[in-house]
Amino acid sequence: MPSLRDDFYRHVAQTSESPMGLEVERAEGCHIYTTDGKKYVDLISGISVSSLGHRHPAVVQAVKEQVDHHLHVMVYGEFIQRPQVEFAALLTSVLPESLSQVYFVNSGTEATEGALKLAKKHTGRTKLVSFRNSYHGDTHGSLSVTGRDIYRNPYLPLLPDVHFLDFNDHTQLHQIDNSTAAVILEPIQGEGGIIPAETEWLKAVRDRCDETGALLIFDEIQTGFFRTGRLFAFEHYGVVPDILCMAKAMGGGMPMGAFASSPGNLKAFTFNPPLNHVTTFGGHPVSCAAAYANLKTLLEGDFTAKATRIEEMVRETLAGKGIIEVRGKGAMLGLELDNADLTQKVVRYCFEKGIILGWTLHSNTLIRIAPPLIIQDKLLRESLQIILNAVASD
Ligand SMILES: Cc1ncc(COP(=O)(O)O)c(C=O)c1O
Repeated sequence: MPSLRDDFYRHVAQTSESPMGLEVERAEGCHIYTTDGKKYVDLISGISVSSLGHRHPAVVQAVKEQVDHHLHVMVYGEFIQRPQVEFAALLTSVLPESLSQVYFVNSGTEATEGALKLAKKHTGRTKLVSFRNSYHGDTHGSLSVTGRDIYRNPYLPLLPDVHFLDFNDHTQLHQIDNSTAAVILEPIQGEGGIIPAETEWLKAVRDRCDETGALLIFDEIQTGFFRTGRLFAFEHYGVVPDILCMAKAMGGGMPMGAFASSPGNLKAFTFNPPLNHVTTFGGHPVSCAAAYANLKTLLEGDFTAKATRIEEMVRETLAGKGIIEVRGKGAMLGLELDNADLTQKVVRYCFEKGIILGWTLHSNTLIRIAPPLIIQDKLLRESLQIILNAVASD
């Protein structure tokens, strides 16, 4: 009889030539347990998803309760479903007034797609401005505004009228003009190498959008839900977008994506023709119930302090010790190493010692750390020591 591993390689389409291949038995808190009896520290939260850790009791309970009420009942937007409405009300209660409505989808890339379409429909314009090294998802529209040729080239032609500028460069902002429908950016570029926007630059982008009537889209798919120490990273900057994209940590481990904007902007999806951005499963009731429990737990805890503490500990322990730079904000951190070989060696060494680290799509000298925000000091300290040992090992 073929093993589970054999069937994984034979019947599950592969995303790379060398998957990590952990055979998962269960996951709890900061740990993932495998079928061969090993225990791993998840220092990357399933790539910025499990901010409350795996299987947080509040999320698990909410899922169980919703399953006993109903699963899918109708394509998104037609029926009034309590978990969806209650989650939208809770989420918008902690967002600025200009982001008082939520359009639910199922993933990050769908949030990007929806935001781009909304900006085009609302403004009647087609030009899109994005930034080099950005990452906004892998479907065609999202890939069209992703600023890395190596991922775009195999799929050309993509959307026309997309213009890439340099991130944090003031001199190019005049290219945002009266024909621009939207400017899309990550307040902290994630896959591009954990690169924070500079405050003055982000304010200048906001001003330029206001001058030209372009809508400003923030992709907070990775930065959202306290990953950087604020509910959303835009709060660090005091710059509010016209459209806010969310996903990843939003569902507490369930698939969930959304974009928020004003009712005036979102109206564009309701007419000419009606149902012009429909999604069958968007705002699934089980995902919404999980997302409500997740957000409520996040809001009741002190996750600003927790993310800040993680950043402090990582910087204090690792900065300068064979690591060229620690960058990022809160619990979204990147460790820049000297070369690609060292980076691979550190990731492999840590993996063997039971620490799961992250990589970024666009850099082979950067290790990413994004632990669950609930991680205890002791576990984080022990894990960081293993990283130090890895850097120093021959
Ligand atoms: C900033 C950003 N945008 C979009 C996406 C795409 O999200 P998803 O994988 O849910 O489609 C990601 C995923 O890593 C991301 O980091």
